[in-house]
Amino acid sequence: MLAEGTAFAEIYSGSYIFTSALLERGFLMELIESFPEPVFVTQPLLPDINKVMVKVRQIWESKQLTNNGPMVRKLEEELGSYLKVMNLSLFSNGTIALQIACRILKLSGEVITTPFTFAATPHALVWSNLKPVFCDVENETLNMDPDCIEKLITPGTSAIMPVHVYGNPCAVEKIQKIADRYALKVIYDAAHAFGVEVAGKPIGAFGDISMFSLHATKVYHSVEGGALTFNHPFLKEEADMLRNFGIKNEENIIEPGTNGKMNELQAAIGLLLLEIIDEEIENRRKVANQYRAQLMDIPGLTFFRDIEGVKHNYAYFPIRIDCKEFGHSRDELFEELKKFNIFTRKYFYPLCSRFMCYRNLPAADEGSLPVAEKAAGEILVLPMHGRMGADVIDTICRIIRVYSSHGR
Ligand SMILES: Cc1ncc(COP(=O)(O)O)c(C=O)c1O
Repeated sequence: MLAEGTAFAEIYSGSYIFTSALLERGFLMELIESFPEPVFVTQPLLPDINKVMVKVRQIWESKQLTNNGPMVRKLEEELGSYLKVMNLSLFSNGTIALQIACRILKLSGEVITTPFTFAATPHALVWSNLKPVFCDVENETLNMDPDCIEKLITPGTSAIMPVHVYGNPCAVEKIQKIADRYALKVIYDAAHAFGVEVAGKPIGAFGDISMFSLHATKVYHSVEGGALTFNHPFLKEEADMLRNFGIKNEENIIEPGTNGKMNELQAAIGLLLLEIIDEEIENRRKVANQYRAQLMDIPGLTFFRDIEGVKHNYAYFPIRIDCKEFGHSRDELFEELKKFNIFTRKYFYPLCSRFMCYRNLPAADEGSLPVAEKAAGEILVLPMHGRMGADVIDTICRIIRVYSSHGR
């Protein structure tokens, strides 16, 4: 790998003959060695193994592995205060949490959502017998465009399910106004938005319910897991019952519930990671800033900047590639990075509206989601986690820069 700060002029000095042929991209790319180990888009945050063993021992001694045990109850309390919300419940994963959210709000018919998301968002709707109606996104945030919502509302619409994509907050005030005007419920898929705040208000305080995924690929996790935050304690009571088969007490099963319970081992990991999450987010902020500094002036490459008044969590580092300006398409860059053992992700390509199972929905028509379609073809998520070395980020940026300059 090239040493930090090595300028191309230095590479060409000494015994190298400075000819235009040497400026060929192939030559420059060959000077950068591939990573010996794969660099994946993320790496799970892991607690100290010795601390894990202490917690496991406590669980063994308690002889309670699941069913709302002490670890789960403690994590609910601690997460509630970390996320600054009054009503929070934990689940085995975020997808089942979304389904339970739909059920307790008694949704029916159509739900307006975004196609620019992970498959779980529309899938959770369909598993709840609801019809996803895909709404286009804003070009700046790639979140649901509030100006496109109203025209999709029909007498059959019961709710809006926006997603805070990459942890960037949706236009929460505008969305709430529309929901209020049409008496619609709002469930935020906040899978990416752990710990995010808008003007001092926690992200989980918007809408009727928010869902946080606690999957191992997320900023904060419990291996697998999910959390719902509710705007009313009554909703928490309902959700707690539904995650446990609808059991109210030993002799009263009052709802056809499901099994959505988080277990004690998951909660133990969650408790330990809560001790180091602030440090992880701070480290991610530094990674994001290094990426920004080193990718800043590459034509045809753009990225998100911090939004004033928003506390970010730096969950992902997406870049957007304008093929003409950059000189290569997003897909070409994706393939080029693979040659260096760097595995980026095309989140979110294909759009959910393009999935085989959703092609029968109206929004799958050509041209009805122009902003989302364009973004899906241009976005690439670079490796991001709090333990990435500055040299790794430097090499990734260098490869992108050299690859781009050749194309222009
Ligand atoms: C936007 C979004 N929604 C929902 C989910 C589903 O969460 P889980 O994997 O915890 O079921 C995920 C991630 O996995 C996601 O990225």
